[in-house]
Parts: sequence; C-alpha cells; structure tokens
Amino acid sequence: MCGIVGILGKSSVATDLVDALRRLEYRGYDSAGIATVESDHLERRRAEGKLKNLEKRLLSEPLAGRTGIGHTRWATHGRPTERNAHPHMTAEVSVVHNGIIENFRELRADLEKKGHVFDTDTDTEAVVHLISHHMQQGLSPVEAVRAALGELQGAFALGIIFAGHDDLMIAARQGSPLAIGHGSGEMYLGSDAIALAPFTDSITYLDEGDWAVMHRSGVEIYDRAGNRVDRPMVKSVASSLLVDKGNHRHFMAKEIHEQPEVISHTLANYIDMAAGQVRFPDLGIDLAKVSRLTISACGTAYYAGLVGKYWIEQFARVPVEIDIASELRYREAPLPEGGLAVFVSQSGETADTLATLRYCKAGGQRIASIVNVRTSTIARESHAALPTLAGPEIGVASTKAFTCQLSVLACLALALGRARGTISEAKEQEMVKALMEVPRHISSIIRNEQQFVAIAQELSKARDVLYLGRGTSYPIALEGALKLKEISYIHAEGYAAGELKHGPIALIDENVPVIVVAPEDALFEKTVSNMQEVAARGGKIILISDAPADKVSCSLAAHIEMPTSVSFTTPLLYAVPTQLLAYHTAVVMGTDVDQPRNLAKSVTVE
Ligand code: F6R
Repeated sequence: MCGIVGILGKSSVATDLVDALRRLEYRGYDSAGIATVESDHLERRRAEGKLKNLEKRLLSEPLAGRTGIGHTRWATHGRPTERNAHPHMTAEVSVVHNGIIENFRELRADLEKKGHVFDTDTDTEAVVHLISHHMQQGLSPVEAVRAALGELQGAFALGIIFAGHDDLMIAARQGSPLAIGHGSGEMYLGSDAIALAPFTDSITYLDEGDWAVMHRSGVEIYDRAGNRVDRPMVKSVASSLLVDKGNHRHFMAKEIHEQPEVISHTLANYIDMAAGQVRFPDLGIDLAKVSRLTISACGTAYYAGLVGKYWIEQFARVPVEIDIASELRYREAPLPEGGLAVFVSQSGETADTLATLRYCKAGGQRIASIVNVRTSTIARESHAALPTLAGPEIGVASTKAFTCQLSVLACLALALGRARGTISEAKEQEMVKALMEVPRHISSIIRNEQQFVAIAQELSKARDVLYLGRGTSYPIALEGALKLKEISYIHAEGYAAGELKHGPIALIDENVPVIVVAPEDALFEKTVSNMQEVAARGGKIILISDAPADKVSCSLAAHIEMPTSVSFTTPLLYAVPTQLLAYHTAVVMGTDVDQPRNLAKSVTVE
C-alpha cells in the first residue's frame, strides 16, 4: 500500500507534494514524509502519524528544492515511527516505495558486509543502499537504478531522486501502480492520477516491469528488458475537487448519502430505462453458453460478489464458484474450460484480487471486472471492465461502492438469465422496475437517519455484536459486521441465521446485541424462528425488516422499519441501515471514522 508522489517543478515543491499526498492518504496514514534536492545534497522532513503532523513540522522547518518526492505510509516492515518513515536516503539517493521487497534481508546482509550502515527496520532501505552502492562503484544514477532493479524481488513502485541532480527523477513499477503526469516544463509522479489531479490531467501509466527516467522536458520509459518503449498519454478524468465533505462531518456520511444518486447513475449505465430492460456490455463471451462462473474479490467487494452468487444461481441457473481472492489462487482451484471470471474491486488495485485475476487469465478464463476506478490496473488487465459509477470513495470503509457493485451484479444476473432463457422478458421488466425503485427507497431510509443515533448509543456499550441473515441477507449480515468492527473497533460477527444453533448461540446473553437482517421474504419465518432462539436466551434483538412488529412474536430492543420492496432488491436496501448503524456507533465512540486505525483504502500488498 502506501502512496507515493514526485514533482520536478519550476519552483519550490514542498507544498504541492503535501497537497498530492493528501489525496493519497486513503492508501495509508501511519506516517508521511517528503525529500527534496537542495543544490548538491538531499534534505527531508518526516513525521509519525497523519499528514497534518508533517505539515506542522514543515511550518517550523520548511524545505526548499524544486525536485522532490513524498510518501504516505501503511506500515508493512517496521513500526510506524518517524525513523521508519519514508523517504529513506543516503548521501547519494532518496527513495519512496510502495509495496514489499521480498529479498530485502539477503540484500541488507550483503550490503552490511560491504560496510553500509542501516538505520531503519524497513525493506525499502535495502533499495536505497543498493542504488547508493552501485553509484559508489562509479555507475551513473540511471545505470545504478537499472542494476538495482535487476536485483530486487517483490512488488514495488519506486520514486527516486539524487543529490546534485536537480533535473532527474526515476520511477519504477513492478506490481504496484504508478502514473506519470505531464505538465508544461514540469513532470509529476503519483501512485494514481487522483494525486496529480490539481497539476495535470495528461497521464501516462507505467506497465508492469516498466521504469522511467524523468526530466522537466519529458520522460523516457524502458521495459523490464531495458528496451525503450512508448506508453500512451491519456486524459485522466480524476477530479481535482475530490477532498470535499460537503455539509457532512465525515466522508463516510457523505458517501452513504450519495447512494441514491450514484446507484441511479450506475443502473442507468446498464439499463435501457425506456425499454425497461438490461443493456449489458458485450463481455466477448456468449452468455447463453457460460456453464460456470467464478467470482473473486476481497472484503466488502467479496460480500458484494457473494450476493451476486445468490442472484446468478437463482435467476440465471448458472453455478457460481466464489472465493476470497487471497485463497482462490493459492488453493489452485480448477477452472472450467472457456469460463467467465468476474472480479469486484472498488480501487481496482487490490493485490490479491489482481493476482487472482492473472491466475484466472492464465487459466483461459474470460475476465470481467466490476471496478470503480476505471483507469486502475484491474480494469486495464480485464477483457471487459464494468464500471461502477460511485465516484471517488474516500472514506476507508466502503459504502457507496458496495451498493454500486451490487447494482452491476444485479444487472449481470438479469443479462445472464435473459441470455439463457431462465428469465422471461416480462420478468426482466418487472425486476428492472424493482431496481429502478431502489434509489427512492434508499432516500426514504436515509431520511429516517435520526433513529440510528439512539440505537448506536446502545451498540456503543457492547463488547460483541452478532449479525444474522438468511439467503441474500446473509452476505449483508457479514458486511454489516465488517462495517461495525472496522470503524468502531467493536467485535462483530455475521452468521447465516440457520447456523446460529451450531455454535455461535453459545455467545448470546443479555449483553450481546443481535442485529437481524430479515426482509419479509420467503425465508422470513425461518429467520423469525432463529430470532426466537436468541430472545429465549436474553439476547437484545435489533430487527431490520419491512415486516410489521406483530409478525414477530418476541420482544425487540429496536425495530428499524424498512420500506416494502421486491425481495430481489433487498440486499441493496438493507445494506444502508447496517452502514448507518456502524457510522453512528463510531461517531458515538469518537473513533476516526474516515481513517480507522491499521487500515488503508487501497490494499496493494498481499
Ligand atoms: C471494507 C473495505 C474493504 C475493501 C477491500 C477490497 O469497508 O473497504 O474490505 O472492500 O479491501 O478493496 P477493493 O474493493 O478496492 O478491491
């Protein structure tokens, strides 16, 4: 993870580096730092914790220099202290790094034998000393980096500057994304185009194995073998107005409230509103002949995929294999001949999802990805990218991206069902109509937001919280529990309601709130039975349902009344109260809602 930036500017770059880093804090916020070339030597400022600490440091100890690199860290090797903060440097070279250098121990041992003294616990410092070492042997900066890159194993994106070289920056990409920005007499480097949005929208993405030698006048790009290559310059659509919370206290609140609008946009991309039918892009595979589908993703995106599995199996009658990305590839799952593999990712950069995509591609699968960042690596490496139109999601806990992923998966299920003849045209129109009603229903849930504040007060006193659901409400229970634990730090688990009596029921007592996600659908009565089992053991039930209270013959601690909807669309609706419960609980607890501890928005390490 981590975010990196670099600027070859016309004047002092410190302020712009910090500005660009602010846009990358979603990648990590354990520490931040910048380094610049000051005439013949390198200077740096670093600070533990969030970027604001670095900004404070820069006020009292400003940094000059027209050439600089910056970093915001999500710690992998070494504690998140100032000593381990990037940029790392020697007298010759300074480096910012995103990723993991797998052979850093061997490199470090070898360099220490040669007299290099290390002063951090990071893997990155091995890169710095390696380049320094080559320069001390008489190689130029470019030759030294070329030699070092040949010795590094692992996944990395690097930004490198050199003492005494005011017009030089080198970038390298292997497994972690990097974008080069073109200005007028200025050049930029960033983990993504969003970081560079205030400076330029002319972007060149480095391919796997590429490295680039940047000057103010332009860039030369080389592939892994050292051949000069051309990579296209594209116009980025990343907006420079990203970091705006509007009237909201947190990005997460803003993003929850944006859902009616962004779900409408996303649905409009896949539905012919006039005809009331799905208009799905060509995936380059005959949907009528798909005999098995593989879905893979991580975290919240995985739970979206799990809802997708229920929908696709029920409506299109295609068996779906689903697994979290960090497992699918390592268990060497057999893949069907000519199969379709679908990946779900907000960032489009999640390392495990990307690696599994490559595994499936190598296994002959047709690759479709549901991504929010259209220029991301996962989008670019897919045969077909299916965008979610959620807009930038800044809060680390995913909300609007999740419901937009569900919107695309719902349309995919309908497209498959129509192609395979398992859904009639009339049924499709009925289901499309139900989807089109989702934004209105979500607006009505959000209008009643105040009720969540009182329930959150109670939840904030709990040590453990259980979430139950059946059918498509089961993934929503899992997602609800993930949301609560990641932003409030309260332990929470989601279970299939029918599974409760096979173990988890032992946890129930009068101190354990149990949140039951139970739309009044074909499974409702069964879930009510499970709820009664909880009530009999003193559990405090918070029911999220459109069923009237008299249909539930046990006492409830709270009843979140939901609008009545077609059961197909309930996952989209019922996700929202679980988001609001988690959000308001975190607010009561006073945690850092948008940047919860230990997490990062884009997980580019395995
Ligand atoms: C939780 C959350 C994570 C992400 C996961 C995958 O709120 O946001 O679980 O869903 O890290 O990230 P993407 O979707 O970027 O691949």
